[in-house]
Amino acid sequence: MTRPAPQAGSREPGDTTDSAGPADAQPGSTVARPLRARPGESLRFAVTHSVPAFARGIPAVRPGAVTVLGAAGQPRWSAATLRALRDRYDGAPVLLGGASGDTLVLLDPADVQEFFARPVRELALDAVDKTKMLSVLEPTGVVCSHGNLREERRALNDQVLAHHDEAHPSCGTYRTVIAEECTRLTTGPTLTYARLQRTVERISRRIVLGDQAAGDEELHRWLLALRKEGNWGVVRRGPTPAGRRRYEAATNRLHVYAPHAPASTLIGRARDTACGEDVDAVGQAHHWFLALDSVAAIVARTLLLLAAHPAEQAALHDVPDAPDTTRLQACVQETLRLYPVVPDLLRILRADTTWRGVPYPAGTHVLVPIGFLQRDSDLVPGGSLFAPGRWQAEGADRDTRMAPFSHGEGRCPGDRLGLMAAAEVCAQLLRDHRVTGGRPRLDPCRPLPGVLNAPGIQLTLAHS
Ligand code: HEM
Repeated sequence: MTRPAPQAGSREPGDTTDSAGPADAQPGSTVARPLRARPGESLRFAVTHSVPAFARGIPAVRPGAVTVLGAAGQPRWSAATLRALRDRYDGAPVLLGGASGDTLVLLDPADVQEFFARPVRELALDAVDKTKMLSVLEPTGVVCSHGNLREERRALNDQVLAHHDEAHPSCGTYRTVIAEECTRLTTGPTLTYARLQRTVERISRRIVLGDQAAGDEELHRWLLALRKEGNWGVVRRGPTPAGRRRYEAATNRLHVYAPHAPASTLIGRARDTACGEDVDAVGQAHHWFLALDSVAAIVARTLLLLAAHPAEQAALHDVPDAPDTTRLQACVQETLRLYPVVPDLLRILRADTTWRGVPYPAGTHVLVPIGFLQRDSDLVPGGSLFAPGRWQAEGADRDTRMAPFSHGEGRCPGDRLGLMAAAEVCAQLLRDHRVTGGRPRLDPCRPLPGVLNAPGIQLTLAHS
């Protein structure tokens, strides 16, 4: 499925490059030109892919919109649009016009590999729309930063989250927290998403701030309200006065907890790590909460998939110290492949750059629709099926065809921590119980649905 680089000066099939523009070549020049999609194709992409993504909600998912779009078949429309672009342009990178400027869409595995290999200084994470949305809730977060300050913030995140270690040094403490909190989840035969979400929020508070914050639901109410406001970040000019007040209240609360937090908590580790004042060590916690809270949806989907795949669930108990946590982590990774937390990886070019011999100006956005690609059976065999064993193959975690945590310099620094937390919540639930059913009902013999609305998930548990 890899394609050759475009020849200098050549026009690819379907090339409709305008005759004007910074990347356009003079007659006789040997500079290759970008492929620009026709206006109708850009419009189709906006209607079937980008607008639904905003409607679903980033960073706070709107369950109602997810249900409506799922029932209307939106994931299929989006996949059909991307497939049509790939077919028409023979897999080559294609520029689409949009409200925030040009976006170069990458659909070929070789381009995706290149995307992950490029340095973040050149292909930066702080794309315009992403920054507008996230700056409401984490204006000093690493994702919203660039240049030297971004590198310092990333270094702090790497240190606190132990990105380069096999296991987080505090993972023993975090496992105990998860075990304590999960006891309340198995008291009845039915587990609702609301109960799971409340429990995960308590776990997040204890991991980030310690036991002192276990019952601080007010903090979470502010964080959730900020995320909801972040959904409108693209169409508003900065945060509202209420949003500013909430951000200040939540940040002040974090500063109250920070001096008393045990050294094993994330905020304690941030406090004890040397860094410049501009880095805003405490401010990084807004993203840690956002990420840790996503564990509720990941666990709900993983358990629902295991309910629909009883052989996979039974295999977790084929070891003496059941459930098998390595296998459970593979189940979580497979769930994330099918239902990624970040389905679109968006970057921005910080300098004029060439991509496979074709020049693009600084400011061009670059998009890898990884949610589509990692489910595409042409690239990933059995793409729409739940097959966790694929994650146990040598090197699967570094295979750029699948990227639930991204790859390269922009890879999630909390990848191991997030995976551990999600697998551990599942393990606690499956230690003495089996998931025997759930809603919505999934058919394991058919391609899995494109969306699984987490708040609508209900699980049936039976004592084993
Ligand atoms: C639970 C599963 C998780 C998933 C699926 C996940 C996924 C991702 C992905 C795909 C990115 C890259 C986004 C992009 O390129 O636009 C990312 C970035 C990031 N994640 Fe995670 N994440 C998870 C958990 C965590 C946890 C637990 C933390 C911290 C407590 C965390 C902290 C971060 C940070 C700070 C970044 C920004 C990195 C940067 O800008 O260089 N994540 N995550």
